[in-house]
Amino acid sequence: MNKAFEVPGQLRGEILNLAASMPKPAAISAARRDQLLVRIRTLLKRENAVIIAHYYADEDLQVLADETGGFVADSLSMAGFGHRHSASTLVIAGVRFMGETAKILNPEKRVLMPDLNANCSLDLACPAQAFSDFCDEHPDRKVVVYANTSAEVKARADWVVTSSNAVDIVLYLKGQGDKLIWAPDKHLGHYVQQKTGADMLSWQGFCVVHDEFRAQELQELKEKNPDAMVLVHPESPEDVIKLADVVGSTSILINAVSESTSRKFIVATDYGIFHKMKLAAPEKELLVAPTGGTSPTCSMCGHCPWMAVNSLENLTQVLDAGTNEIVIEEKIRQKAILPIQRMLGFSRRACSVALATT
Ligand code: 13P
Ligand code: SF4
Repeated sequence: MNKAFEVPGQLRGEILNLAASMPKPAAISAARRDQLLVRIRTLLKRENAVIIAHYYADEDLQVLADETGGFVADSLSMAGFGHRHSASTLVIAGVRFMGETAKILNPEKRVLMPDLNANCSLDLACPAQAFSDFCDEHPDRKVVVYANTSAEVKARADWVVTSSNAVDIVLYLKGQGDKLIWAPDKHLGHYVQQKTGADMLSWQGFCVVHDEFRAQELQELKEKNPDAMVLVHPESPEDVIKLADVVGSTSILINAVSESTSRKFIVATDYGIFHKMKLAAPEKELLVAPTGGTSPTCSMCGHCPWMAVNSLENLTQVLDAGTNEIVIEEKIRQKAILPIQRMLGFSRRACSVALATT
């Protein structure tokens, strides 16, 4: 696959420094936790609000979202749920691109985030102006961007995809005879290109969490646990993906745990996902895939520093004060909604075809 844009060393360094500097929410006492949970339930009713959390969010937030009629999901399903729900306020316990997608699809709703600094290294590695200039240089190519991008980058795209539907959508576009620009994740881009054989020019962004998974150490762990099935998110490096039994989005990996006959799994994605995996199959054993070396040489160590800034404390504050609202310029929103709607329409059609053939 052709490489389109190497993330400059300085930008890469800035992203890694930012990730490492994100504050870790302080541990709270059981009494404080109970107090916050009671308060949030009251505020959710007062504000006609619902919590939409990603699988990587803190376990307390996932439990709360489920118990209060909210939703815990992968990035594709998060986008659809906010649109269907009648609440006038959506609280996104995830990262910024998820909040922005919710706002793009629901301009009439108030979208709040516990911390507006909850970013994503893929989003940060794809500055809107540089990306738009690059697209301008290749007017013959359709522009496909991963959901993990800013509203401005989506506004420049023909299609948005998530890890749930990237292969299918790129296959479809290849079938239409399209040549593509892909951004921003280099590993997912490479995986999709290998699966589809499409002509793709790929941005070279990276996920700070998945980029750290290491093939050699994973191979050693596999050898020590020959009965374990290896589950890998496709934002991981190619040599890690090669060792996988299942490669897929967060929801595909959770389904693999509940549906497989295997009783042990090595999981190469953010370990926040273990909450749902354990609920799906409490009797099964889950091991975190190694993130480098035999000593702890990882920086992120299997957990997204931006997902981790969401907490019961800051969720309570934003619900109470109505702060941290996502605002998107209407001109950008109107452009950004088109490739998202194209993706949601494609996924709905694919889903109805699948249902009709089962
Ligand atoms: P999913 O679309 O699989 O939920 O992934 C989102 C993400 O940010 C993974 O790092
Ligand atoms: Fe972005 Fe990686 Fe965090 Fe997912 S895990 S939100 S891709 S930095």
